[in-house]
Amino acid sequence: MNTNTASTTSSRPIVRLTDVNKTFGTGKDSVSALRNVSLSVPQGAIYGVIGLSGAGKSTLIRCINMLERPDSGSIAVAGREMTRLSGHELMVARRRIGMIFQHFNLLNSRNVYGNIAFPLEIAGVPKAKIKARVEELIELVGLNGRAKAYPAQLSGGQKQRVGIARALANEPDVLLSDEATSALDPETTIQVLQLIRDINRRTGVTVVMITHEMNVIREICDQVAVMNDGSVVEAGATADVFSRPQSSAARRLLRSQFESTPATVIPDLTNSDHHKLVKLSFAGASASAPIIAELIRSIAVTPNILYGRIDRMQGQPWGTLVVDLAGEPEAVKEALKYLERREVHVIELDVTAIEQAKESEQND
Ligand SMILES: Nc1ncnc2c1ncn2[C@@H]1O[C@H](COP(=O)(O)OP(=O)(O)OP(=O)(O)O)[C@@H](O)[C@H]1O
Ligand SMILES: [Mg+2]
Repeated sequence: MNTNTASTTSSRPIVRLTDVNKTFGTGKDSVSALRNVSLSVPQGAIYGVIGLSGAGKSTLIRCINMLERPDSGSIAVAGREMTRLSGHELMVARRRIGMIFQHFNLLNSRNVYGNIAFPLEIAGVPKAKIKARVEELIELVGLNGRAKAYPAQLSGGQKQRVGIARALANEPDVLLSDEATSALDPETTIQVLQLIRDINRRTGVTVVMITHEMNVIREICDQVAVMNDGSVVEAGATADVFSRPQSSAARRLLRSQFESTPATVIPDLTNSDHHKLVKLSFAGASASAPIIAELIRSIAVTPNILYGRIDRMQGQPWGTLVVDLAGEPEAVKEALKYLERREVHVIELDVTAIEQAKESEQND
């Protein structure tokens, strides 16, 4: 497993799961939703959880605040062992963990102010303090002037802003987000995610988020865990997981991140031992190193660059090149090894598939 730590966050874990197991049902109908899951979320990080439907993401996130009780294993949040708490202790501990939901879960009979004030009232905060805090939160999430509006009068994005403000009311250590933007349109999704990132930067609250949107993870998550069939199969800095996914589950999920080269830009080619058509992905340190120049200098291959593009990953450059490596078979092999050594993620492209894609693009 890949376990690099992002340099932008403190390495002290605020959430630590150790050997967590959770099975639903019994006998032949039972489902192992979590299998020996261990992971550490550094304080202050935005931590993404990805995986196919049914992989166990929601179960994992719901175990962090004990909405779901694990069968075994340890769940420590801010140094407190959640599995040992009960009743009042658990209620108090949960105040330190905010949660936002896909469908917002607002109280329709209460206005914006009332929704945000609700968790503070439950916590027994004095009225004057509630007023000051709610006003501060309304400002933080950009809902100035909407305090008196009811949920029915708000757009989806505004509703989620209320959801975020409510989740932050008791100044939690951790904010959990389960598909918080999947009911929103793409533009609103970006705004809400930017808001979450701003709040993370301004308040230092740690965020654990589930999303199906790989671009979201790429742009705002410092670290990411990949789940498959109840297990965490890979976890680490987003740049590492995205540029060099180790597990087949991660490669499958991230395929769209790599396979977006338009086929028509690639000339007619046939793969042979003397030609290897590869897609190279550079992130972090490898993005700024003169790797191709060094490759030409040290190995007898001619890299013919067919396509290139630079995207961003958390504000850092993330480069993609499609290259035809030409040379003697041994040299081509050596070149591939060299690239892997330089931490470039290499995918060998399927020439037949590209030719087919080209035909269909040209027919459009
Ligand atoms: N309360 C429950 N009772 C029975 N089975 C459950 C329950 N909650 C989850 N499961 C099962 O546990 C497995 C993991 O579910 P979970 O909801 O954690 O997946 P997920 O990764 O969040 O999926 P999705 O992306 O569809 O939300 C699934 O097989 C699901 O059917
Ligand atoms: Mg889910």
